[in-house]
Amino acid sequence: MIEAIEKNLERLINTCEEPRLREAMLYSALSPGKRVRPRLFLSACEAAKGSYDATALDFACCLEMIHVYSLIHDDLPAMDDDDLRRGRPTTHKQYDEATAILAGDALLNHAYETMSRLCADFFRLRRPVIAMAIIAKAAGVNGMIAGQMVDLQSEGKKITLDDLKGIHRRKTGALFTAALEAGAILGGGTRLFVQGMAKLGGMVGLAFQIRDDILDVTATCEQIGKMPGSDARNEKVTYVSLLGLQKAEDTYKKLSNEALALAQSLPCRTNSLRDLVMQIINREK
Ligand code: IPE
Ligand code: IPE
Ligand code: MG
Ligand code: MG
Ligand code: MG
Repeated sequence: MIEAIEKNLERLINTCEEPRLREAMLYSALSPGKRVRPRLFLSACEAAKGSYDATALDFACCLEMIHVYSLIHDDLPAMDDDDLRRGRPTTHKQYDEATAILAGDALLNHAYETMSRLCADFFRLRRPVIAMAIIAKAAGVNGMIAGQMVDLQSEGKKITLDDLKGIHRRKTGALFTAALEAGAILGGGTRLFVQGMAKLGGMVGLAFQIRDDILDVTATCEQIGKMPGSDARNEKVTYVSLLGLQKAEDTYKKLSNEALALAQSLPCRTNSLRDLVMQIINREK
């Protein structure tokens, strides 16, 4: 699945004709990421239908392009100011800030261009349009972008655990929810199944960001491919800064177990989703 995602990502980005832009997009998108969101999307599709097709693979790659754009911009000096990502120099370090901004813009736009083309190609079908609307909403002004805004605004501030949960749910959870919900919709899932998937996405997404907060404190640079300690340097409010390491770990374990139980209770046609949730929960990078 990962190989198919990466090959298709490369194919989609190679339609960009401007050499420097294409190179920067390829550099950021094809660097060794975990591909969690596109794999969740395809696994949800498989869970509903038993398989995924070329349209689903394109949709999955659009999710990854939106994710990579968010990483490029997240690393910029104006945001988290990080120099290392996926074990390599961040895009603005490898190229320059203007190129990084444009490569991020380009990946975001390319995702919507690709999804809208698919919707036009299958204009008699409603499911691709609904899938695109779900992804757009999650990535958008009340989703990931809003989460990133409040994350930055909260640096050095005192906020409550509920506020932090709200940030994590939007900056990270929203795209996870959309991956499972839209994947299940494209796979032809029933309303009830799609609802279950969306709920699972929210839980896995929040757990994923709590784990990210923990790894920023406990992991090595080799392990996570980014510089640990970034959150403390930026005075970010995280699960670790708010609860301490032990309580953050406890919260993470509890949420992970709940997510796994939900994944096991959903009527999936293949095991890929349950296995992936397990992998994500046990991740060390
Ligand atoms: C990093 O996401 C940003 C967060 C939301 C924590 P990933 O941990 O999925 O990063 P890659 O795609 O594997 O590099
Ligand atoms: C980023 O959260 C969430 C995004 C939407 C990119 P972080 O700032 O914690 O992600 P990392 O640690 O840089 O990957
Ligand atoms: Mg950030
Ligand atoms: Mg960051
Ligand atoms: Mg982080």
